[in-house]
Amino acid sequence: MKMIFLGAPGAGKGTQAENVSAAYGIPAISTGAIIRESVKNGTPAGMEAKSYMDSGSLVPDKVVIDIIKERLAQDDCEKGFILDGFPRTIIQAEELEKMGVDIDFAVTIEVPDENIVRRMSGRRVCPDCGASYHTEYKPSKDGESCDKCGAKLTTRHDDLPEVVLSRLKVYHEQTEPVKEFYNSRGKLLTVIGQEKVEDTTALTMKAVETGRMLATGRVE
Ligand code: AP5
Repeated sequence: MKMIFLGAPGAGKGTQAENVSAAYGIPAISTGAIIRESVKNGTPAGMEAKSYMDSGSLVPDKVVIDIIKERLAQDDCEKGFILDGFPRTIIQAEELEKMGVDIDFAVTIEVPDENIVRRMSGRRVCPDCGASYHTEYKPSKDGESCDKCGAKLTTRHDDLPEVVLSRLKVYHEQTEPVKEFYNSRGKLLTVIGQEKVEDTTALTMKAVETGRMLATGRVE
């Protein structure tokens, strides 16, 4: 199964991609996470991307398209994958088609902007393994360190309220049109994001199962 998760920054794409990845045994590929790793490692591509990320802008199409080409060529993508945060522009969506990648369906998680701004202030991330938590909705066991590797949790630079507002503006202008791109191909499924993570998970699993059945021709 090849699927895409769309949605505003903080809508819950990464959280749900992780759940679906565990349930279906396919990798969840986050361009944001790959870029953050490159920044951490100080690679030339990471250094170029950092200023865009920190200001809430999109990293240039060519940089992320090259990242995706390289990642999808890896063996673990043979049985399928989840793209979290790619494509984020029409150019990226068109490029994916030109690469011959036949996406089965795209899931968009819809959350109002005002909830996003409130939600992002509570996100905490692990600087070592990248695991994501929330002070209120998904706290780590002791509230301070990562349940998976024990590192001290931090906040993301781009979760500052002013940067979140700029990311939302970029989302509405450049990424929302990607929904219509997949809708016009009959491949868009919508999940209304809920206040509790587990409620969104239940709806996402239902959407993915619907998408899977549609893609395999088991239902009309
Ligand atoms: P990226 O890392 O992809 O960030 P994003 O899309 O802005 O999304 P987030 O990771 O912030 O949020 P999410 O939707 O995954 O939500 P999450 O599950 O974490 O990209 C960062 C940057 O990289 C971009 O700004 C850009 O510069 C660059 N970039 C990446 N891809 C690119 C591309 N294709 N083209 C160009 N540039 C690109 O949840 C958020 C928080 O809410 C968490 O704390 C979580 O625990 C909590 N939460 C989740 N679900 C719920 C719920 N239902 N109720 C309450 N809380 C919840």
